Amino acid sequence: MTDETRTYAVPSRVAEGSPNLFPSMDAYREVSQDVKNDPDAFWLGVTKDRIAWRKEPTIGLDGSFHDIAKNQISWFGDGTLNITESCIDRHVDAHPDKVAIIWEGDEPGDGRTLTYRELHEEVCKTANALRELGLKKGERAIIYMGMVPEAAIAMLACARLGAVHSVVFGGFSAEALRDRILDCGAEIVITQDIGRRGGRDIPLKEVTVQATAATPSVKKVLVYKRTNTEVPWDHERDVWWHDAVNSASADCPAVECAAEDPLFILYTSGSTGKPKGLVHTCGGYLTWASFTHQEVFDLRDDDVYACVADVGWITGHSYIVYGPLANGATTLMFESTPLYPDAGRYWDVVQRHKVTVFYTAPTAIRALAAKGDDFVTKYDRSSLRVLGTVGEPINPAAWEWYYDVVGEGRCNIVDTWWQTETGGIMITPIACATPTRAGSATFPMVGIEPILLDDEARRIRGPGEGKLCVEFPWPGMARTVWGDHDRYVGTYFTTYKPYYFTGDGCRRDAQGYHWITGRVDDVLNVSGHRMGTAEFESALVSAEAVAEAAVVGFPHDIKGQGVYAYIVLQPGVDASDSIEAELKQVCRTAIGAHAVVDLFQIVPGLPKTRSGKVMRRILRKVAEGEPEKLGDVSTLADPSVVDAIVAGAKKL
Ligand code: WTA
Repeated sequence: MTDETRTYAVPSRVAEGSPNLFPSMDAYREVSQDVKNDPDAFWLGVTKDRIAWRKEPTIGLDGSFHDIAKNQISWFGDGTLNITESCIDRHVDAHPDKVAIIWEGDEPGDGRTLTYRELHEEVCKTANALRELGLKKGERAIIYMGMVPEAAIAMLACARLGAVHSVVFGGFSAEALRDRILDCGAEIVITQDIGRRGGRDIPLKEVTVQATAATPSVKKVLVYKRTNTEVPWDHERDVWWHDAVNSASADCPAVECAAEDPLFILYTSGSTGKPKGLVHTCGGYLTWASFTHQEVFDLRDDDVYACVADVGWITGHSYIVYGPLANGATTLMFESTPLYPDAGRYWDVVQRHKVTVFYTAPTAIRALAAKGDDFVTKYDRSSLRVLGTVGEPINPAAWEWYYDVVGEGRCNIVDTWWQTETGGIMITPIACATPTRAGSATFPMVGIEPILLDDEARRIRGPGEGKLCVEFPWPGMARTVWGDHDRYVGTYFTTYKPYYFTGDGCRRDAQGYHWITGRVDDVLNVSGHRMGTAEFESALVSAEAVAEAAVVGFPHDIKGQGVYAYIVLQPGVDASDSIEAELKQVCRTAIGAHAVVDLFQIVPGLPKTRSGKVMRRILRKVAEGEPEKLGDVSTLADPSVVDAIVAGAKKL
């Protein structure tokens, strides 16, 4: 039985000797008050301490949520910089031989390390190669790669030139990749021949060929060679990484950028079928990534820090690449999966590399807990000090397993809540200071004012549960949606004007601890992968046999949420044995390999109101296995479809 109110004191070896801003809760509270009193002074101080500015900013925040429709938020607006000088150059001066990146390849023990000096050389050469291929300041480059150091090198090389990168997760399909290329008008695509993951090949180049069949903006495709597999080749457009990069000069002056110039675009799913390209800027984003990485994980000089996310998601951007490198840390990149070759892989990595800070997702923790403790205990985890989780709510049982079995009660757990939109961590324990509770993201980062709104949009003070919003701007927030500022304003700043609406629900207990309850909009979170129900639906209705489709989430023991699809077939079409397999393939083709429908139910119709709106509440209750909680269905145009839906409900 889990006791939600049990508080875990910070283990002494984690609490002792912190060199950072918040060695204790008292210090955290004091700094929180300082930030409230004068946010500009505080963040200007932080950014000048942490970031190598060319021209130091004198302005903090410019703009507010009240007039965000007209004026974009700006932080440090009069400063100039190139973020690679913060992430690489100054560390080459301070500690050239410190390891910047440890790469653990797919096969255990296969890998390499790059020191800051080597990273500098690789980034400069790659930037010169990209410049040679025509990439200029402000232009976009798509990065469609697996977890190889060259992915991070490519990101930094773009930044060196002031170009804007958009990393597309290697699991996305050709259609999804094409849509992103078209949306941002990319000049260059950077990919690799084959990706490796869990002993399998991922045909990245082949997918790129399909995706770029009709994308006129793409002038060149730069291809890193990961294997010896032959791949399709266009002699006009394709260039091998080793040909272009190896011969390039290692001298590449960094291009000066304005604080508010875009650093990258990252596409994420919302409640419509079309993913949004969130835009993060150079100065504010890097300040937030660096500050939160240092303070939340209580970074120490000799830490070996491992975040096992993928660079295709925001976690990989902020907490594999930008935060750790800005902090001159040693960051590990992991190409494989938690289950390859077996469920001991993470702990094998921890033992071999003496990892001190380990950051993963609840879905991986649950999957590993289900495999038994032996896979963990046979490896030496005594180097670990801090364990992090991100991406979805962590259930108390999984939290306790992480704490007791992986950490042996010697580590603090930081359950970090944040989003692609927020750029970095927002609600979180501070590793060395915060007493934790199993399943709670605890307290806001300094400068963040989370607020809960009830169903009437009234602010809940003290304990309660409601929609999670944020009251004030912070440096790391996304500034806009690429090419569509109205959509940005409409999605985040209109429902609960003038607050930023996160799309999540949250409960605050009597002691002020925050418990994220999950999405309250039509976004699914499957194994920490964020996908829109509308993306699935638009894929499914593109199949000839399908007249209508509605997709909802349901609780899933390992994945957090599973995907449940209700399908109305076209008149005259009968449900064949192969229909599920066909529809699964349709989602894979439209979205990617991670877009898996767990349960299909063929229904005679969808429950709709008389005005034609699908009552998703009913579909959710049936998928959740709670048909007795449907509530009032009398307002439906045809209440009889509900009986058929309940009668034919599917279960895993
Ligand atoms: C969810 C990932 C509970 C949440 C960094 C959010 C979490 C969405 C947590 C963003 C957490 C992330 N506890 N839920 N610690 N962290 N989430 O954009 O629903 O891929 O809105 O960013 O993940 O997903 P995204």
